[in-house]
Amino acid sequence: MAESVAFAAQSKSARYAELLPQLASLVDGEPDLIANLANVVAALRECLPIASWVGFYIMRGTELVLGPFQGKVACVRIAMGRGVCGTAASERRTMIVADVEQFPGHIACDAGSRSEIVVPLVREGRIVAVLDLDSYELAAFDHVDAQYLERVAELASTFAW
Ligand code: SME
Repeated sequence: MAESVAFAAQSKSARYAELLPQLASLVDGEPDLIANLANVVAALRECLPIASWVGFYIMRGTELVLGPFQGKVACVRIAMGRGVCGTAASERRTMIVADVEQFPGHIACDAGSRSEIVVPLVREGRIVAVLDLDSYELAAFDHVDAQYLERVAELASTFAW
């Protein structure tokens, strides 16, 4: 049977509430890390039409390397502490950037990007990846996104890293 996700709700929090159980069943019993990350990204993109780019950057040694994503081609390597992704990873906290032009050191992979949210994935005390969402709209992401994306990150941190 083909896997799928569906959303009936209009409000963001209700759509996230619909997403979480679907994500859990989508990855249930599947041991492959890349397959699960790829499906999480695809489900998020369907859930959040405001996102122009959704993807993971995976911790490889001392830098973040591009993982499964949906959207335009993106920069491949990001050093710890650099850009929004590297800052979220080094400070181990969710970064909500309402206007990327106001974030010193923001790495512009897509000139159309206006706002961004990055959530770190922590497993057994170490950063394994970050989840990054971009939007062409200013201030597209807020505390509601942070709250739910942190739960998505929590689920993804249980994958086979
Ligand atoms: N803007 C990010 C780089 C990754 S792209 O948005 C896909 C940053 O500043 O870390």
